[in-house]
Amino acid sequence: MRRIQTCTAMVLLVSLLLVFFYSSLHLETSHGHKAGMEDLLKQRGLKVHDADVRIKPPVLEVSTTGDVRIKPPVLEVSTMPPSELYNVSSLRQTIPQNGAYWNRLLYSALRRVEKGEKPFRHDPHWSSCRETNQELLQTNMHDFTSYPVLFQTFLQGMNCRSPPVLINQSNVSNDTFLLLAIKSTPRNFEQRQAVRETWGREGVYPGGLRVRLVFLLGSSPLEDPDLSPLLSFEAKHYGDLLQWDFRESLLNLTLKMNMLLQWARKSCPHASFIFSGDDDVFVNTPALLRYLESLEASKASQLYVGHVISSANPLRDPKSKYFIPLSFYDGPYPAYAGGGGFLISGALLQPLYSVSRMVPFFPIDDVYIAMCFKALGVTPEAHAGFQTFDVKEQDRENLCVHKDLLLIHRRSPQQMKKLWTGIHSPFLTC
Ligand SMILES: *[C@@H]1O[C@H](CO)[C@@H](O)[C@H](O)[C@H]1NC(C)=O
Ligand SMILES: *[C@@H]1O[C@H](CO)[C@@H](O)[C@H](O)[C@H]1NC(C)=O
Ligand SMILES: *[C@@H]1O[C@H](CO)[C@@H](O)[C@H](O)[C@H]1NC(C)=O
Ligand SMILES: *[C@@H]1O[C@H](CO)[C@@H](O)[C@H](O)[C@H]1NC(C)=O
Ligand SMILES: *[C@@H]1O[C@H](CO)[C@@H](O)[C@H](O)[C@H]1NC(C)=O
Repeated sequence: MRRIQTCTAMVLLVSLLLVFFYSSLHLETSHGHKAGMEDLLKQRGLKVHDADVRIKPPVLEVSTTGDVRIKPPVLEVSTMPPSELYNVSSLRQTIPQNGAYWNRLLYSALRRVEKGEKPFRHDPHWSSCRETNQELLQTNMHDFTSYPVLFQTFLQGMNCRSPPVLINQSNVSNDTFLLLAIKSTPRNFEQRQAVRETWGREGVYPGGLRVRLVFLLGSSPLEDPDLSPLLSFEAKHYGDLLQWDFRESLLNLTLKMNMLLQWARKSCPHASFIFSGDDDVFVNTPALLRYLESLEASKASQLYVGHVISSANPLRDPKSKYFIPLSFYDGPYPAYAGGGGFLISGALLQPLYSVSRMVPFFPIDDVYIAMCFKALGVTPEAHAGFQTFDVKEQDRENLCVHKDLLLIHRRSPQQMKKLWTGIHSPFLTC
């Protein structure tokens, strides 16, 4: 009897303490989350909604033996973008509503969001996200079985968005001005080293601007030799690798970009700008920093700039690397910044990630990012300094041409080093 009374008293006391703790936490976390979004919303003359943040209260569990266990409170940030943040009408104007599968998926997600529901059923676990029901795929895409095998694989994994982390980085400073997020592959050691030694050098640049570098990797094909001991050495030595357990493949680049958004919004939320690019481009980092520094605040917070490809259409030749079947997607592409390298504002990380929950994965990563931007009502801005299709043949060795540019695709590690030394030579006269 005595023991039961003590237990009851203890439970009451703990509950009271938790109620107090919970209410103070609620205020604090709601505020913290909102502060981040506030700027962006304010610019659009909008207010923050309380519904963005919910807290699952702490749970007390008392076992039959009288042991008391407390499940801590869980902070749940809504995975739904606040509806004011996205511009559905601009997405609707660009992407036609028709019978193609992706178009149907998008419109069904839009209808759900407009009704205040979650855009997709749920976020399936990595181990059970693959669509194995052949009938479902064939019912929705009548010629599914004639799609290239890799495209079929992409479709089966279209709902898979949470691959296990293989290599993480914890040391990310809170004062990053520019985050260089470079798409690489496990075996590209030489390219990564060339980037580190040249345009990707981490540190504080003139004006006190801190530059951080991360390489984004998937996993090697099973047939490849095991590179993981080398990668783990590299990750420890340089502290700039991020790796997830999904297979490196052109059609998995959208997943890679989504992982970048997921990682950066958590680990590098204060970065002013993010450069996303390939490991075989040459970037004139000092010029890029000067450009970013010169931006007006209103532009700096809405930046999406690069080499813009406007009015492009899907390629319908099944032999093409970028083949898109008509029964999968029907419509033009929104204007997009070429994936070789483009810049975005750090302020757009969280909103982009939020709308990406609403936009079904599209197999071409730079087009996918543009679709997400479209949903935010942001259009890409063209900058002549981004040459993702390279410069004229006769200018490829011309240092003065390179000195004025921001980005050129594509250069070998050796060319990268030569160009970098060249454009920094005190003897160079242009
Ligand atoms: C949304 O996009 C449409 C079409 O592009 C545009 O007319 C409208 O002004 C945008 N609305 C907002 C709030 O940005
Ligand atoms: C990776 O590291 C970041 C800290 O930089 C942390 O917030 C995140 O939870 C880590 N992710 C995993 C899967 O361990
Ligand atoms: C963490 O990063 C900072 C700045 O990027 C660097 O100065 C420091 O040495 C790093 N620390 C570790 C343990 O890697
Ligand atoms: C970054 O973190 C350090 C130490 O935690 C803190 O002193 C500094 O004020 C922070 N800087 C910014 C810009 O938040
Ligand atoms: C993407 O990665 C997953 C996980 O490793 C893999 O099962 C799938 O085949 C890959 N997709 C493509 C198109 O290669």
